[in-house]
Amino acid sequence: MTDLASLLDHSLAAIATAPDLEALEALRVGLLGKKGEISLLMKGLGEMGPDERKAFGQQVNGLRDDVTAALDARKAVLASAALDARLAKETIDITLTVRPEGEGRVHPISQTIDEIVAIFGQMGFAVAEGPDIEDDFHNFTALNFPPDHPARQMHDTFFLPEQSDGTRRLLRTHTSPVQVRTMLSQKPPIRVIIPGRTYRCDSDMTHTPMFHQVEGLVIDEATHMGHLKGCLIEFVRSFFEIDDVPVRFRPSFFPFTEPSAEVDIGCSRKDGELKIGAGADWLEILGCGMVHPNVLKNCGTDPERYQGFAFGMGIERIAMLKYGIPDLRTFFDSDLRWLKHYGFLPLDVPTLAGGLAR
Ligand code: DAH
Repeated sequence: MTDLASLLDHSLAAIATAPDLEALEALRVGLLGKKGEISLLMKGLGEMGPDERKAFGQQVNGLRDDVTAALDARKAVLASAALDARLAKETIDITLTVRPEGEGRVHPISQTIDEIVAIFGQMGFAVAEGPDIEDDFHNFTALNFPPDHPARQMHDTFFLPEQSDGTRRLLRTHTSPVQVRTMLSQKPPIRVIIPGRTYRCDSDMTHTPMFHQVEGLVIDEATHMGHLKGCLIEFVRSFFEIDDVPVRFRPSFFPFTEPSAEVDIGCSRKDGELKIGAGADWLEILGCGMVHPNVLKNCGTDPERYQGFAFGMGIERIAMLKYGIPDLRTFFDSDLRWLKHYGFLPLDVPTLAGGLAR
């Protein structure tokens, strides 16, 4: 009996301190192998009387189970340590050294999105995303579009083929459906911006079938129109890097906001050239408003408790204005000479401290 207890003790101690898998395997063979200490104990059973055999047999089985469990546990620890060591030894540096002399440039759309994210990031906004392929609920219905709203019709929206249940998915016509997705998946306070691709069946000098928007959404208990105005004026001045650019809020209509406004910035036109800043003219750059109570309700948010504002703007348009890009369609021509001229160096990451664009 004492023998078994001390065999167990010293076995467990040796297992617990086995330095590696090889030493552990040697221990296993020494204890449980054909000629192992525990296996040999079993051999002695033949010479015992039935009662004794039964009692001793049970004890040896218990011992074997304990030792086996300890071996397995130690093996798991050693195996994972061995894997970690191997992973550390075999790491390969797959990064390429930076080659500033390279021809590659950051596309003005990517640059503009990075700048927008930097500005709103500083104000505490997080970035949210949603799918390009949407359904009617997220793109229209939840956003309070009436059933016969013209934007739902074929000539504006790219619909996908009918599904077996008779519904048709579509390419999102704006980034606003991600407002819905965000409210359905997060609790207020919400403060997000949503940059992404959008699609409309439209192609001419000033429209491309795919373009980019950035959406903003703020939902909280006491958010009001003053916050909306302050936030957007701050954005416009940071983005265009002109401290006194005039900003005007003009009443407008969108199904998903009430009240709604369009935002114009001051500009002047001389000899066919457009200059942002104080001047005689105005230029529309974005739509915004207080989120409609119906939209809040459709997204499971209590309009008695929460309110907020939203805004949406076209990225190509503000990129063209800021960087003096005259033709919308050149954004999507993939012309390397154009990209070299209008593109940005990849190491010049936009930050408010370092400068948005150098
Ligand atoms: N979704 C609108 C569009 O594509 C833009 C817009 C207007 C977004 C007002 C908003 C908003 O969030 O409040 O024309």
